[in-house]
Order: sequence, then C-alpha cells, then structure tokens
Amino acid sequence: MALRYDCYLFDFDGTIADTGEGITKSVAYSLEKLGRPVPDQAILDRFIGPPLHDSYMQYCGLNEEEAERAVALYRERYTDVGLYESHLYPGIAMLLRALHRAGAWVAIASAKPQFMLERLAKHYGIDAYLDNIVGIGLDRHSADKRDLILRALPEGTEPGRACMAGDRRFDIGAAKALGLFAVGADYGYSEPGELLAAGADAVFEDLYAMAECLLDGQAPRGVFISLEGSDGCGKSTQIALLKEHLQRRGFDVVLTREPGGCPISERIREVILSLDSKGMSSECEALLYAASRVEHVREVVEPALKSGKIVICDRFLDSSIAYQAYGRELGEAFVRQINEPATRRAMPQRTLLLELNRDQARRRMANGAPLDRLEIEKEDFFARVQQGYDALAKAEPERIVRIDASRGIDQVFSDVRAAIDGLLDT
Ligand code: TYD
Repeated sequence: MALRYDCYLFDFDGTIADTGEGITKSVAYSLEKLGRPVPDQAILDRFIGPPLHDSYMQYCGLNEEEAERAVALYRERYTDVGLYESHLYPGIAMLLRALHRAGAWVAIASAKPQFMLERLAKHYGIDAYLDNIVGIGLDRHSADKRDLILRALPEGTEPGRACMAGDRRFDIGAAKALGLFAVGADYGYSEPGELLAAGADAVFEDLYAMAECLLDGQAPRGVFISLEGSDGCGKSTQIALLKEHLQRRGFDVVLTREPGGCPISERIREVILSLDSKGMSSECEALLYAASRVEHVREVVEPALKSGKIVICDRFLDSSIAYQAYGRELGEAFVRQINEPATRRAMPQRTLLLELNRDQARRRMANGAPLDRLEIEKEDFFARVQQGYDALAKAEPERIVRIDASRGIDQVFSDVRAAIDGLLDT
C-alpha cells in the first residue's frame, strides 16, 4: 500500500494515549506538597500536553523557581505511579501497525521525558511499530515542539513528505510552521476550536476517522484469531486474558463464539446443543453449524475485520473439521464445502489449539455445568475429534499453534500471548 507521506509523527498524551488521570493526579500531588491550592479538574486537564513548567506558571501563578520545584515533585509521583495511570486509545495500535507495515516511518514527538516515552511504548507494546521516539531530556523543563519534530524525522526528510498528528495547538502550530501536513486529534484534550484555529489541515473527533485519513481511505483490515480445543481445555479463561492483553496494547477487540455470536446463530446454537435434539442426523448437525457460521461471519466477524478490529473467536471452522468431519465421520471435503460461504469471507490468521488429553479434559469437566448434546458423546467420538485436530495442526503448522493446556493458567497464557504478539508484530 503506497501512502501519501513518508513519515507519520504522533504526539503521545491525548493522541496515542489517554494519560489524563496520571498527569492530573500528579499535578495535584505536587501542588499539595508545595502547600498550594489544587485547582478544579478543568484547570488540571489543561496540564495534559503542553510543557508542565509553563502550565504551573500560567494556571497556578507559580514563579520560575516554584515551577521548577513543582515539576520535580510531579516527577516524584509520576515516574513510578502516574505513568501507568493511562491507557492507549482503542484502535491506535492497529493504525500504527498499518502505517509501519506500509513501510512508513512512524515516530513519537512529545514533550514528555524521553525515558518515560520509551518505557510506555515498551509497556504497551507499541514499540514494535515505531522507528523513533523523541521526547525531552530530564534536564529540560520545556521544549520547542519544532525541535522535537525535526529530531523525530529521519535526516534530510523534506517536511512536505511528513505528517504530524496531535491534540493540542502546540503540535499543530509547530507542524505547520515547519511545513508538515497537520492532523488534529480532537478526541484528545483540545479545547473547542483550538486545532482548526492553530491551522490544522484536518481535524477528527474519532480515532477511526483519523486513521482512515492517514491511511488514504484504506482502513486497515483487522486480525482474525480463533481458539480451539477439546471441551474442558480452559479456552474461556485464556480468551478473557487475551482480550485484556490486546486491549492494553491499544487494539480494539471483538470477542465472539461459535456456534452463536449473533442472534440468529445463537438460536441455531440452542437447537444444535439441546438434549431435545437427540437423534439429529450428522448431516443436519454439520449443516446447522455451517449455517450458524455463515450468518455469524456476515453479521459480526467480517464487519469487525473491515473496521480494523481484532476478532477473537471461541471455535471456528476447525471445530467442524474435528467434530463433524472426523468425529461424525462425514469427511473433510463435505464439511469444507458446506462451510465455503462462510470461509471465503473470513478465515483465522492464527488459531491456538489448546491441547489436553482426554482423561485430563474429563476430570476438568466433571465439576462443571450440565453436559450438552455433544459432551455426552461416547469416547470413540472424542478420540476421532482428537485425530481431527491432530491432522489439522500437522497440515497447517503456520496457522495452528499447539499449546499444552495441562499446565497452570499463567504458563498457558504466556504461550498464548507469545503466539499472538508474534503474529501482530511481524
Ligand atoms: P460450547 O459450550 O461452546 O463448548 P466449549 O465451551 O467446549 O467450546 O459448545 C460447543 C460445542 O459444539 C462443543 O462441544 C464443540 C461443538 N462444535 C462442533 O461440533 N462443531 C462446530 O463447528 C463448532 C463450532 C462446535
């Protein structure tokens, strides 16, 4: 994908991350320590973005020397505590990743101390998508944003080949003064009208709209992940942990399941799994799973992928191969064929197969909820399901990552995370 610019620079506070809580709490802390009144939240919010030193003087009436003390006190709390009272804006990671993958130079230019930016980028896992991180040295209390922008660009870059996104007039003003294309992130901490008045070339209230502009109208396609495994393998726990991990990394995550995931498919699920459906033919069962899948892909999976989200699906096609093609002995060709309307629209890029042997699975299920129509099947059925998964994993070792699920939750999750981070960071 060819992009309009060679370099994309981002401010950090209010553009990549919502850092408000940690900053305002640390400003309040510093003023309390100085024995100064703490202003109301609206004033505290103005500290987010611009150089701190100037804000203490402008909003709290501190003189040079007092402002310096205040900054030191602020850092006392912010460095270890406040820094992590923040979160990335949902979807920002997919934008940075898409720019990076398209071959652009992606960098941060922020008035935050350099070491904090580096720490945060690593903590949130966006460092994989960044070519450069530029902040201020600890000996400085303020910085000229123009200087930060110039340092963030590769040497010799023609300013007209670069674009800067930021949420405050300092970002926009500096970018325009240097001749960069300036994009205003109005979802951050700007005041009404601030960014247009500062000369922004475009202003967006929504991160997704901004992403579309930066990517020239081509929203990044999301990433489709599925989890598979025998009943009782601990999928639900791992899925919840994975969702939390990816959200922390700044991805927008949609969690869904099969059979089900949307109203029509949930109704099909009831028919398939109900003990009232005993005696259902294997063909009918396979077709119902396929019907549920095509609806689910059309209604949930495909729209989420189109808008750049990560879809985590509890089971997908591989379950039909393992349970219907192998377990019910319907054969792989038939099952693949009836699922084609769904799989031509979307197939997981990575599938985590949580493996447990049958004895371990049975023991884990023994204390669980009442069994459904599939769970009461005989042992030879589950042995064939196992063979099915085995054959799939051997046939597609790139997509399907086998994970030993007999270990503790944390050990299993460390493999789950590595497999997904590995996919997202390449
Ligand atoms: P569910 O309660 O979601 O099981 P689990 O928590 O183990 O994922 O029930 C889904 C059942 O349906 C499960 O036994 C596997 C089976 N299944 C198939 O046989 N074929 C399929 O295509 C899918 C998606 C599930």
